Amino acid sequence: MKRFLWPGLNKFHDPECDALLPEQAPLGCPFFGNNILAGSKKKGSEYFYSEASKKLGHPNIWRFYFMGYPVISVSGSKNVNTILQSKKFNIMGWSGDEKAKKKRKEATLYSSNSVMFEHDREKHQYLRHLLGPAFTPQSVRKGINAIVLAAEEQLSVLKKGQSVKMEDVCENFALDIAWRQIIGLDLKDQYEIARFHKAVNAYVSGVFSVGAYLPDNIPFKTLLPPYRARKYLVHKIKEKIADLETNGPDGSTLSAMVFSTEHVEDVDANVTRLSDEDIIENALILLVAGTETTASTLTSAISFLGLHPDVFEKLRKEQVEIISLHGENITPEILHKSSFLESVIQETLRIVPVSGTNLRKAEETVVLDGKQIPKGSAVFCNIRLTHELDPQVKSETWTDFCPERWLDDNTKPKEDFLPFGSGSRRCIGASLAMAEMRVFLSLFARKAKKFKLDGAGKRREILWRPTSIIPKPDNGVPIILDD
Ligand code: HEM
Repeated sequence: MKRFLWPGLNKFHDPECDALLPEQAPLGCPFFGNNILAGSKKKGSEYFYSEASKKLGHPNIWRFYFMGYPVISVSGSKNVNTILQSKKFNIMGWSGDEKAKKKRKEATLYSSNSVMFEHDREKHQYLRHLLGPAFTPQSVRKGINAIVLAAEEQLSVLKKGQSVKMEDVCENFALDIAWRQIIGLDLKDQYEIARFHKAVNAYVSGVFSVGAYLPDNIPFKTLLPPYRARKYLVHKIKEKIADLETNGPDGSTLSAMVFSTEHVEDVDANVTRLSDEDIIENALILLVAGTETTASTLTSAISFLGLHPDVFEKLRKEQVEIISLHGENITPEILHKSSFLESVIQETLRIVPVSGTNLRKAEETVVLDGKQIPKGSAVFCNIRLTHELDPQVKSETWTDFCPERWLDDNTKPKEDFLPFGSGSRRCIGASLAMAEMRVFLSLFARKAKKFKLDGAGKRREILWRPTSIIPKPDNGVPIILDD
């Protein structure tokens, strides 16, 4: 009966391996399985993982069933690092018919040749090598002025006594970084800016749309909004590449990609660079990976600060002291002096990280923590559960927002804090993301002085958007400046 209702349940099992398969979470809906997106307003969009893990007694490795496939959830830094650093596991590339893609490139929404989905290890390493220079701390430093400008512009909407939705402010900030810093455009006209923002949103939301999963040869598929958005974005990126080739490099991420080269030994022309096609696909994937993640983390941070005015006061005081010693300028050196600011960001990333990494596929059977991970199975490195079950943090208080824990070596989370993943596919944009969040929150603390969450009433907890892929407060986080 089970085999009929959950047909893929025992798809992967290695009879030659003595170790048992990981424990199975309750199977959920027949055929579809566990609804990993059915979160709870109280406990957030990733509630499923906490609930299922609790029901099984919190093993580090267990199985759930999703859309016809068994998926193995792995938590705990030791296990997660083993998976992410082992050659026995590889990324599950973006599916799609390679032949059809070659014929009709425009019918593919997200290329499997971008750094995030590239399956071939050598090609992935080559892409990382050429993209890397765009994300070094030095490159991020060069872009700091563009980040400050974007934050100042977006925070200028905050006015005393007026209610402002911080979700919109944070999202616009991340989108501004996308055109100013990642692509390096010089958009002046409000209409053009709005068009760019709309296109990135439509393109990113394609990840969760049916259109992304339709076969490449479906007629009129390219008329769907995410495909139209892609066409516009590709056009903008091509224009910018041409401009860079004529006028030379600037401080943008795209520029670093265009001028990044790799010296290759024993090849006649011993210098290679990314092809225009690689540059375009990778620029597009940076828009997907770099906007929603940063915007949601910032929105959650503002929510936490609104519920903890004492913490906000400490954050503000640190900025006031820095201004009195070093002036108003925001530079990378100044940001590094803001240790409390750093703790606020880390604490937010601890409680609301992205749920986990992209799925990995076991290329051979592996025994981990005494459990069988059979060849062919999908593995989900569960960052959320790794943070939740970190023995350094008491389990019943793991959601307590307490940045002070980061200031003491005895209470500070250590190896079980993995917000940017690990190994050869660790988040390439981590330095940029951290710089964006430091700039935004320091300017927010300088500007807001005192604020309250609008409409929160007596509620002393955050309600979460139950179906959001990245944890996000449900009400858009409206705030009012008090002073
Ligand atoms: C708070 C913000 C962010 C968080 C929490 C975050 C988190 C992550 C995590 C956990 C991974 C690892 C995925 C895996 O192993 O499968 C990852 C990969 C990646 N991230 Fe981020 N990210 C953030 C911001 C950014 C930004 C700003 C960019 C670029 C503009 C970016 C670009 C990427 C790319 C390209 C990858 C794939 C790297 C590879 O496969 O080699 N991310 N991110």
